[in-house]
Amino acid sequence: MNLTVIGTGYVGLVTGACFAEMGRTVTCVDVDAGKIEGLKAGVLPIYEPGLEEIVLRNSAEDRLHFTTELPEAMQDSKVYFIAVGTPPGEDGSADLQYVLAVARQIGRHLDGYSVIVDKSTVPVGTADKVRAAVQAELDVRGVKIPFDVVSNPEFLKEGAAVADFMRPDRIIVGCESERAREIMKKLYAPFNRNRERVIYMGVKEAEMTKYAANALLATKISFMNEIANLCDLLGVDVESVREGIGSDSRIGSHFIYPGCGYGGSCFPKDVQALIRTAHARGYATPVLDAVEARNAAQKQVLFQKLSRRFGSDLRGHTFAVWGLAFKPGTDDLREAPARVLIEALLNAGASVRAYDPVAMDAARKEWPAAWFEAGRLSLAAHQYEALEGADALVLVTEWKPFRHPDFAAMKRLLKAPIILDGRNQYDPEELQPLGFEYEGIGRGLALPSVKDFTGSLARR
Ligand code: UDX
Repeated sequence: MNLTVIGTGYVGLVTGACFAEMGRTVTCVDVDAGKIEGLKAGVLPIYEPGLEEIVLRNSAEDRLHFTTELPEAMQDSKVYFIAVGTPPGEDGSADLQYVLAVARQIGRHLDGYSVIVDKSTVPVGTADKVRAAVQAELDVRGVKIPFDVVSNPEFLKEGAAVADFMRPDRIIVGCESERAREIMKKLYAPFNRNRERVIYMGVKEAEMTKYAANALLATKISFMNEIANLCDLLGVDVESVREGIGSDSRIGSHFIYPGCGYGGSCFPKDVQALIRTAHARGYATPVLDAVEARNAAQKQVLFQKLSRRFGSDLRGHTFAVWGLAFKPGTDDLREAPARVLIEALLNAGASVRAYDPVAMDAARKEWPAAWFEAGRLSLAAHQYEALEGADALVLVTEWKPFRHPDFAAMKRLLKAPIILDGRNQYDPEELQPLGFEYEGIGRGLALPSVKDFTGSLARR
């Protein structure tokens, strides 16, 4: 049973590579010829730990192929995974044009019973639209060919995508025919050796499961960020509170880490899409609205803390920023809190010297040229270079090399030993004797306000 995977983004490429790794012959299709040429030459469009190795090995062993030609790829396969993008439209709802264009193309070339699998995160009811789009093309051709549409949402996390795909907590399969179910069962059997991981359900239930999971995780984070901000005001250390509540198995210790807001391609987009789906039915979503609003506000918190410490006019100040990617282990800058911080700092007249272990090229390519013009935003060659002469360090992404840095060297390099820790990575009790001013998120330890530094800035 050969597979075709359409779309070579995070989900498509990981899906294709991992099925090939499990012994299937897979053809990955993308309309982006540059991407396909790169992949044929072993150049990956994304950074993802462990992915390059399995792409190269399975390509060399002739199990993983890349093409821009869907009809050609369809010839040897009866299972088509749709893994193209569903970007947010102007109103935040998921834009299905790419998914439906693929469905129509599949309909134009279908030549025998096939299973069409929605792998992209798509709103409830999309499988029906995919089915209708395929059927419309079959009707135009005047042929009767049976097919099934299955919903098989992907739960992988960027930075751990291969590991998540290979050892998933669960595999959700929404399908309405025994024939499709048997095919999906066979496909996922190698991932299922030690315990049954597949949960079968209806198609719409599978579509909703993905949104509900992401929205609940986003809710946990926004809730915790709200509690953290309150802890700041009350002089309470949220890190103890986090440990305290996380030990309750009903709450659990995951996704309650406060910080400077969630980013990435999923949480912001999926929460918005779910809100739009509800509003389209005339249903209000005060809980989801609050999750979004808290997150937007949370991305401003680092800037607000810096303004309180240094004043609202930041001309003449330089800030070192450690971490640009929306989280460690990826070069993905989508919806990254660093974006919001840097933009706010530049608008307030400050200069920024940033460093990220892998997202530097991505930042150079993706961020507005205006940000780099006149040298106000510069990218440092290594993490310590970013600190030279800076007024403070802001930790935005908790990459491993930032976790146990050389504090003595940092103190020498920074103009003043001030650390604003957007991910609560450091121990205030370790930093205080070293002479650092420290503030995290909800540690109950606010940096002194600018009012304490009036006149000729006592700290200098
Ligand atoms: C998420 C889901 O975890 C995954 O199942 C789904 O398929 C896609 O969306 P991803 O976006 O790759 O995956 O990253 P994840 O590790 O979930 O982190 C998302 C964001 O939440 C990051 O910005 C991260 O920094 C933030 N986060 C996460 C917190 O702020 N606190 C936490 O406790 C956990």
